Amino acid sequence: MTRKKLFITGASGFLGWYLCKAAQLDWDVYGAVNRNAIDCPGIAALPIDLTDRDALRDSIQNLRPDAVIHAAALSRPNDCQMNPDESFAVNVRASLNLAEYCGALEIPCAFISTDQVFDGSNPPYAETAPVAPVNLYGEHKVMAEEGMSARNPKTIVCRMPLMFGVSPHAQIFLQSFVSTLQAGQPLKLFTDEVRTPVSGQTAAQGILLALREGPSCLHLGGTERISRYNFGKMLAKILNCSEQLLQACQQADIRMAAPRPADVSLDSSLAFKLGYSPSSVEAELRQIFSTSTT
Ligand SMILES: NC(=O)c1ccc[n+]([C@@H]2O[C@H](COP(=O)([O-])OP(=O)(O)OC[C@H]3O[C@@H](n4cnc5c(N)ncnc54)[C@H](OP(=O)(O)O)[C@@H]3O)[C@@H](O)[C@H]2O)c1
Repeated sequence: MTRKKLFITGASGFLGWYLCKAAQLDWDVYGAVNRNAIDCPGIAALPIDLTDRDALRDSIQNLRPDAVIHAAALSRPNDCQMNPDESFAVNVRASLNLAEYCGALEIPCAFISTDQVFDGSNPPYAETAPVAPVNLYGEHKVMAEEGMSARNPKTIVCRMPLMFGVSPHAQIFLQSFVSTLQAGQPLKLFTDEVRTPVSGQTAAQGILLALREGPSCLHLGGTERISRYNFGKMLAKILNCSEQLLQACQQADIRMAAPRPADVSLDSSLAFKLGYSPSSVEAELRQIFSTSTT
């Protein structure tokens, strides 16, 4: 039987690696890459700059995928705040173009959005909560959510929490936490920034579930609301590092380009009803460090 084709943008990114690994069990996966490569055997890499409208249209029209997961983005809020034009080009304009081409083919497209569409003042947030981003990254994600849904009724907005893992594609905060703690260096962590984190592996399972079920919007947070500081305490325990290395601080103590919302915990009850079942953060961290050499 011919397998269906799935086009994943951002395949060379942190989440992209987990998506490629999980999706290839059921799909023929084609991964868009830009500056980096895909370190995942069996995935067909398609080099493309998504801000090149014609190249994007040709890729979609030539490949004619059965479904798309759009995970590519300028993904760091500080980068977006400092490079607003690039953020708009990648996070908004390219997303809307992609939605137009998916709409023309009448195929589903899971759009990877963020808990940072909320302002953090009234958690936990269900899918029906009004959006109110506090930084440009969040604003551009909201513009993409709305514009993509208008251009393609089969858009599935997947709002993601903070994700952690040891994807070989990208260094995220977990690796720097680990190397700081293992070097015996102090680690400053916010006590007043709260999220509902999940591993990249769990996140990928949730996104594939969303693609199967097809809701217009789905929150894919974990089951626990946890501050960065408490996340660090859990990590120190698992790595057998001294908790004394952790220094509690507040968002206001550190100057950053992008304002940060305080508590953008997601209410993911709808996803849980559909079968999404993240393990506890501690169990996910233990599993990551039992199978990695980081
Ligand atoms: N990481 C988190 O905790 C988190 C939380 C909530 C939501 N999200 C969202 O989840 C998605 C994935 O995040 P991530 O952490 O995996 O990001 P990432 O590691 O920074 O990866 C970004 C991906 O986007 C691609 N990309 C960027 N500009 C491009 C362009 N012009 N053309 C083609 N591809 C381009 C990159 O390709 P190259 O590397 O090949 O250049 C890379 O594959 C993003 O939409 C992000 O906003 C992430």
